[in-house]
Amino acid sequence: MPQYQSFPDAAGDSVSLEKLKALRLPPLAGRSFLDVGCNEGYFCGFALFAGASKVVGLDASELFIERARRRFTQASFECQSWDNLPDAPFDVVLLASALHYAEDQAALLSRLVGALSDNGVLVLELGIAPGETNEWCEVERGIDSRWFPTWPTLMEILSPYEWKDIGPSVNQRGDPIPRRVIHVCRRRPVAYLLAQPPGYGKSSLCRKVFIPAGIRVVENDYCLCRIASGEACGSPALQAVVASHFYADALDRTLAKVIEATLLDDLVQVWLTQANGLDFALDGYLPQAVHEAVREQLSAGGYMVVALHWDPPQGKGVPPLHDAMGWANAYEVSLLKQGHANEPASPLPALPFTGIHGHVDRVRCTRGRLHVWGWAVHHSSVAPTNFFVTLGGQEAKVISHERVPRVDVQHHLQLPHPYFGYLLEVERPADIGVEQLPTAIAVHCSVGCESVFGPLWISPDAEFIDAS
Ligand SMILES: C[S@@+](CC[C@H](N)C(=O)[O-])C[C@H]1O[C@@H](n2cnc3c(N)ncnc32)[C@H](O)[C@@H]1O
Repeated sequence: MPQYQSFPDAAGDSVSLEKLKALRLPPLAGRSFLDVGCNEGYFCGFALFAGASKVVGLDASELFIERARRRFTQASFECQSWDNLPDAPFDVVLLASALHYAEDQAALLSRLVGALSDNGVLVLELGIAPGETNEWCEVERGIDSRWFPTWPTLMEILSPYEWKDIGPSVNQRGDPIPRRVIHVCRRRPVAYLLAQPPGYGKSSLCRKVFIPAGIRVVENDYCLCRIASGEACGSPALQAVVASHFYADALDRTLAKVIEATLLDDLVQVWLTQANGLDFALDGYLPQAVHEAVREQLSAGGYMVVALHWDPPQGKGVPPLHDAMGWANAYEVSLLKQGHANEPASPLPALPFTGIHGHVDRVRCTRGRLHVWGWAVHHSSVAPTNFFVTLGGQEAKVISHERVPRVDVQHHLQLPHPYFGYLLEVERPADIGVEQLPTAIAVHCSVGCESVFGPLWISPDAEFIDAS
C-alpha cells in the first residue's frame, strides 16, 4: 500500500502538514476528537499534541491502523468501517479526503453530524467538482474514478446544518479537482431576544419583521396571563407566584415578583415550551440585570441567542420616570396654588434621601376591612402612587387609596404641598386580629412603575383601633 500521509520519517502522497494548516481545526484542549478515515493517524497525533482529552481514529485499513497504533500509543484506533462509528459524542470530528469513498455521501455526513456534541464541529475536507448545476460528477483520477458534488449539490446536502466555507485545502498530485475545507455544525434554533424597555417598538418590530418571516413570537405578557389562568403549564412554584401577584395592568410587577422569587428559569422554560424547538422572537421587557442569565438559559436550552438592541424611536420613547413624575407633581403644585394655576412650573428639588420615606400612623379595624393612615414621599418630592399591603406576609387587597393633606409633613420636609398623606382601605382576612397588627402589617409603596420600596415605618406611637 503506498504511503499516503507524510511524516518527517516517511514522505507520502499527501502534504499532511499543509493540510493540517488548511483544516483550521477548532481548539482541541480538553475536548474529544474523532478522525474518520484516519489513515496512519497524523491528525490524531496533532490532537494529542494539542491537549485533546480523548482521541479516536477510525479506518477500514488494517495496515494503516497498525501503523497508527505504533506511532501514537495514547490514542485509540479502531479498524472498522465508518458505517459503524464509535460511541459518540465528539467535540470535533474530522473527515478529510475520504467522503468520495462513501456509497451514500449525504448519509455519511448525517451520521457524522449526529456524532457531534451540542457545540461540536465536523471538519470536512473534500473535492468539489466544477459546475453551476445541482449534480454529482464522476471524476477520473490517476488511480480510479469517484463521484464528487458540485457546489449546488454540496449546498443541498449541507442544508440541514449550519456550515461555513473555511477556504481551499492543499492540492495533491493526481487530484484533478480543487479541494476545500468546510466546518459543519448541528443547526441550533435561534432565539431573538427583544427585551428593550416599553416604548421601544418591540411589538411593531415583531409584526413588521418576525411574523411575516414566519418566526413564532412568544409574548411574555401573554405567557404570564396564561400561567395565571392555568392555561400554560409553568412549574407549580411559578404558577403560585404568578397567580398570587397577577396585576393585569402592571405585568412588570408580576415579572418583578417572579424574578424576586428566583423563578425566572421556570419562566424561560415556559417560553421554550411555546417555541417547541423552533426559531422564535421573545417580545417582552426584561430588566437589564437578568439579560445575561436569560441568554445563558436559552443557550443551555439548545438555542443560539441573538439579543437585539436599538435606540427608542425618536420622540416616542417613554421619558425617564423621575422627569415625568417631577413635571407632573410640579403641575399639581401649580394647581394647588390658588390664583396661580398658570404659573410656569419647574421640576421639583430632590430630597436628601434615596427612595421612599414614610410612616404608618393609624390602623382602624372594622369587620372585613382595615383603614390605614400615614404618609409617604419619594426623594423626588413625589407622592407614591401604588400601595401594597401585606398581613403576616400575605398580600392583602387594597380596595381604595386616597391622598390626604399632611401639613406637618409638608413643613417638616419643606415640601411644596401637603398631599403626601394616604388613606388605604384594605381587605382584612378573618384570622387577623387587631392585637397582631403591629407586627403583622407592612405597607409598601412605589412611584409609577418603579419597583416596590418599603416597608414604611410603623410610627412608635401608631394607633391600632378595633371598631368591629
Ligand atoms: C485518501 S485517505 C485520507 C486519509 C486522511 N483522512 C488524510 O486526509 O490524511 C482515505 C482514507 O479513508 C479510508 N477509508 C476508505 N473507506 C473507508 C471506510 N468505508 N471506512 C473507514 N475508512 C475508510 C482509507 O483506508 C484511507 O485511509
